[in-house]
Amino acid sequence: MYDFEYYAPTKVAFGKDSLSKLAGLLSEQGARRVLLHYGGGSAERSGLLAIVRSALREAGCTVFELGGVKPNPRLSLVYEGIELCKRENIGFILAVGGGSVIDSAKAIGYGVANDGDVWDFYAGTRKPSACLPVGVVLTIAAAGSEMSNSSVITNENGWLKRSCNSNYARPRFAVMNPVLTYTLPAYQTACGCTDILMHTMERYFCSGGNMDLTDALAEGLMRTVIANARILKTKPDDYDARAEVMWASSLSHNGLTGCGNSGGDWAVHGIEHELGGLYDVAHGAGLAAVWTAWAEYVYADCLSRFYKFAVNVMGVRPDGTRETVALEGIEAFKSFLKDIGMPVNLKELGVSPTDGQFALMAEQCAATGGGKKGSAKILYAADIEKILRNAEKTV
Ligand code: NZQ
Ligand code: ZN
Repeated sequence: MYDFEYYAPTKVAFGKDSLSKLAGLLSEQGARRVLLHYGGGSAERSGLLAIVRSALREAGCTVFELGGVKPNPRLSLVYEGIELCKRENIGFILAVGGGSVIDSAKAIGYGVANDGDVWDFYAGTRKPSACLPVGVVLTIAAAGSEMSNSSVITNENGWLKRSCNSNYARPRFAVMNPVLTYTLPAYQTACGCTDILMHTMERYFCSGGNMDLTDALAEGLMRTVIANARILKTKPDDYDARAEVMWASSLSHNGLTGCGNSGGDWAVHGIEHELGGLYDVAHGAGLAAVWTAWAEYVYADCLSRFYKFAVNVMGVRPDGTRETVALEGIEAFKSFLKDIGMPVNLKELGVSPTDGQFALMAEQCAATGGGKKGSAKILYAADIEKILRNAEKTV
């Protein structure tokens, strides 16, 4: 077990009545001149934005609006937001939406609070030293950005999808009403459940420093999300299932399921970020499409963890050898992904890279880790390219 720091400062208002607390949360933060940031229309259509605007008025805020955040949020809109915030002397950002809106809000916050080009923080050439305070009204259970230290932005110049992690950007508060997620298309619900699972799995399939308590939390979270993702397939308005998944989204990525380990693997996320940058796929679907190929490539180097996952999470009977049990666990998880309508290969994801694109994605992915990625097994560019190519063939 490794030493660790756990920092989860976000105040959470959870449940059916949580939106009524928004005005109070804004006042508590001293929010005066506020940027209301949102996505492509779902929050307007559902009537959520009208409720949020009314809460902002109640809190006495002067409001400036910037909508239009796309999934895989773009740097150009971030620049627009930074300019608006500077011009209008805005001191607080309220993100209404999912990971894309929240990440865009965090990026704007970095750009306002630090000099120079905000992309430097995502390119990894500089580190931020501050961020404007960000509050969240969450509309999709998925990325976990509502409590995470992370922000992921796509630079249209080169279509690079990169992340910046720092505690400055952890949201001050998150309003989480599971009812708001009833309107999600089934595909987005499934993408979200996949991403939630992957945030815990990236930490779980890790060599070094594993801790029983962390494993128990992680396994419970994974079992819960798998069970409730299945329920949501046929009952999208099941409140309890929505609530379980929404809280799992936050706990999966606020650091809790990584306490004591060596930091997690993150290769699947790294590979997805290349696919997302190049092909603009939904993040959860991109993860699903490469996971099996990744797992089959690395499991032998991390056998005890894959065995444990198979037995404790996927319910595989521990009858065979450790290897056959581990492989059954991988197969069972792939079946689950299929059951909830996720792609399990690149073709189902709708992408068919050229030889050059395979090589480029592999090199770029490895470069973000200084030439290598992973922890379950250390992967170099050649390994990543093999995994991507295998992900074409998964059935
Ligand atoms: O734009 P609108 O119209 O709101 O539609 C969105 C969008 O099309 C829709 N949606 C959201 N809430 C809805 C809804 N539709 C109907 N009803 C609702 N209640 O769902 C679509 C996806 O939204 P998005 O915000 O993109 O989803 P998600 O939360 O999955 O975020 C994905 C982004 O987060 C990044 C991903 O890479 C991707 O860019 N990630 C961020 C992380 C972080 N900051 O910690 C960690 C993750 O690993 C991830 O990389
Ligand atoms: Zn993710």
